[in-house]
Amino acid sequence: MLLFGVVRLSERRAAFVSAVTHELRTPLTTFQMYAEMLSEGMVPDPDRQRGYLNTLRAEAARLIHLVENVLSYARLERSTSQHRMKDVPLGELIEQVKGRLIDRARPAGMELVDRGDDSAFSTVVRVNPSAVEQILFNLVDNACKYAGTGADKRLCLIAKRSGRATFRVQGQLRLRDHGPGISRGDCRRLFRPFSKSSQEAANSAPGVGLGLALSRRLARDMGGDLRLDTSVADGACFVLTLLSSM
Ligand SMILES: Nc1ncnc2c1ncn2[C@@H]1O[C@H](COP(=O)(O)OP(=O)(O)O)[C@@H](O)[C@H]1O
Ligand SMILES: [Mg+2]
Repeated sequence: MLLFGVVRLSERRAAFVSAVTHELRTPLTTFQMYAEMLSEGMVPDPDRQRGYLNTLRAEAARLIHLVENVLSYARLERSTSQHRMKDVPLGELIEQVKGRLIDRARPAGMELVDRGDDSAFSTVVRVNPSAVEQILFNLVDNACKYAGTGADKRLCLIAKRSGRATFRVQGQLRLRDHGPGISRGDCRRLFRPFSKSSQEAANSAPGVGLGLALSRRLARDMGGDLRLDTSVADGACFVLTLLSSM
């Protein structure tokens, strides 16, 4: 049993190193090549210069997101973030994180729409706000990568107040897109860390398959949960449940 655990851990480590290395190599090659071309004056056309600089900026943002995910995953393995918990009304929480989500969605041509009624917005939840921001950022990042090609570019962030679970009112944040959705076969492995093989990573949108695994762990660390709602007619719908304050 112990041996099995050790083997699984070393397998996961190897998969992790290979996935992260793959993810780092592509943007670093781009940085080196574009920086060299720009500094050597090989791109005289101002429009092309701006294009290259925008690519550099987008690649840097992608690297920051990857490093942020890897660091918080490592941090979660060591400790919980109970000391960063705060009581915040759902509406206020959405206002705090919305800016960063819109900034991620805009370049992908996606429009973030938030919905909810007063009873949802005024539900006070007990959360680590930066963990909630990281979870929602991962969901929006995925929607931009995997659902950005659909005709309907709306991304709905819906706040809900839901029934009592274990005697506590819950707040819900749902993120819904109208992309291709997720097949039943893929549902199970979505939340496993490093679910993507390097082959898959090379063939599809960039990412190491850590975002959803990390997001679920962050949600559970706060006493909440993250799951996929399979009952929606089209696209993908992720549901983040949060405990209300006592
Ligand atoms: N909104 C979505 N629409 C379709 N597929 C999705 C969506 N979100 C996630 N997925 C699938 O779930 C997988 C795991 O997501 P994630 O853990 O964030 O890894 P990554 O973003 O690195 O691929 C993705 O590779 C993709 O196949
Ligand atoms: Mg992701």
